[in-house]
Amino acid sequence: MLTVTCFILSLLLINYCSANLFVNETEVEAEDAPRITTDARKQKFTHEQRLYHALFAGYNKHLRPLRNPNKALKVYINPSISGIIKADELDQSLKFFQWFPMIWRDELLAWSPSKFGGLQFIMIPSNLIWLPDIFAFTTMEAIETMPMEKTYARVDYEGNVTIVKHQFLTVRCQYHILLFPFDVQQCRMPFGSWAYTTEQIELEAFESRLAQQIFEENSEWEIVSFTARKESVTYESFSTIINRTFQELHYDLVFKRKPTFYIYMIVVPCSIIVNICLLGLFAPFNTNGDRQEKLTLGLTTLLTVAVLLHIVSGQMPKSAEGLPLLGKFILVELIVCATALAVSVLLMYGHRQVIKRRWVAPNFVRTYANYLKPHRVLEESSHLLEERSQVDLSEVQFNNSPKNDHQHTFTQITLLKTYIAHVTAMKKQLLRFQEDTTLHEVWNIAFEWIDMILLGTFLSVNLLLTYIMFVMVPAA
Ligand SMILES: *[C@@H]1O[C@H](CO)[C@@H](O)[C@H](O)[C@H]1NC(C)=O
Ligand SMILES: *[C@@H]1O[C@H](CO)[C@@H](O)[C@H](O)[C@H]1NC(C)=O
Ligand SMILES: *[C@@H]1O[C@H](CO)[C@@H](O)[C@H](O)[C@H]1NC(C)=O
Repeated sequence: MLTVTCFILSLLLINYCSANLFVNETEVEAEDAPRITTDARKQKFTHEQRLYHALFAGYNKHLRPLRNPNKALKVYINPSISGIIKADELDQSLKFFQWFPMIWRDELLAWSPSKFGGLQFIMIPSNLIWLPDIFAFTTMEAIETMPMEKTYARVDYEGNVTIVKHQFLTVRCQYHILLFPFDVQQCRMPFGSWAYTTEQIELEAFESRLAQQIFEENSEWEIVSFTARKESVTYESFSTIINRTFQELHYDLVFKRKPTFYIYMIVVPCSIIVNICLLGLFAPFNTNGDRQEKLTLGLTTLLTVAVLLHIVSGQMPKSAEGLPLLGKFILVELIVCATALAVSVLLMYGHRQVIKRRWVAPNFVRTYANYLKPHRVLEESSHLLEERSQVDLSEVQFNNSPKNDHQHTFTQITLLKTYIAHVTAMKKQLLRFQEDTTLHEVWNIAFEWIDMILLGTFLSVNLLLTYIMFVMVPAA
């Protein structure tokens, strides 16, 4: 009984050992070694497992996978931007998601599918195989969205390895913001291998339509183009005498700001406020020519524009280059409003002086005033003139009337004369007052006229400036 058990046990042991022996053989042997399939192996290992063991026996992931070390390994890359996160003009950086596929041929990872049940490709964690050290040299920070051991590489039977990295990248980028919010930025990203020279790694760009499909729109930026240019850069080595040439692929990312937000939220309100400021300052809505109200309105709108400028300055990209277009626009609007206000103050002063010094309005103004208000102004003055002549006549009549002998009549006449003198004085006063009123009215009309001209001038200047800033400058 014991011998039988011993025999069975030893049989099992031999069986186990032989199985293990086969495995170790597989590991040691090269990939193209002939396979002897036994029933035991078939049950224990799948084709993929066998292939895995076959491929990674003696595989060193730290070394370039080439049988001929003098050859260059071709690596195809197609870095794509899958979404701009933030463009930081102050830090001169650009944050985005990068979708970064790379393809190369790993000669040591090839097999013949017929020997592994027709297996065409396998997926393996990418930290197990050799990876080219290719990245953008302007990278400030790179965060892999997926750890490398969880990123799978696709390896086909010819040894073609495809790997797609997904990274959150921050790169350096030079911004030119003078045309803000119509600026177009260009960000150059040189991609290359950090260690391998041209003789060891050759870079090639490939196009894939998928890159456009995965792109997510950014609310502020629009990608214009992302094109590659091959470039060989020779770096003078400082430690050895040999100069080393590296191959780089220079990708130019051109992206454009969407100006709609700034136009609707800043330019349009600012323009409206300034136009209202001008209208309020110069529109002749007040019949008695009082400018106090207008000035108050002007000051209020000026203050509003100043507040708007303050708000905008917080949103505007800051740069040593100078003030961006939007900042210049608001500043110009502020200056237009302030100039209009100053002109308005001067007009108020002039109007007051003219009235105070009782200057006679120029002829053409009076003609214009008469033409405008023929009934009131003309009639009043002619009426006054008539009255004046009548008074003079009456005086003359009284003076020439024969004096009566009667004392009573004399005193009466004296009294009457005094009255007449009073009345004449009053009439003179009244006349003067009427003249003043006429003067006021004529001057009011004149200043209304000036106001209208100034309103037209300021509005057209404002319109012209807006046109130059938002149509001509961005187009240039
Ligand atoms: C097979 O190799 C492993 C290590 O790779 C070793 O531990 C084991 O003993 C070997 N088996 C045989 C049967 O040689
Ligand atoms: C491997 O890559 C080469 C070169 O790009 C290509 O010609 C070949 O068809 C690829 N092999 C497979 C199985 O896709
Ligand atoms: C390396 O480059 C520098 C400058 O281009 C040149 O002066 C020098 O001769 C080069 N050295 C070699 C070994 O080619």
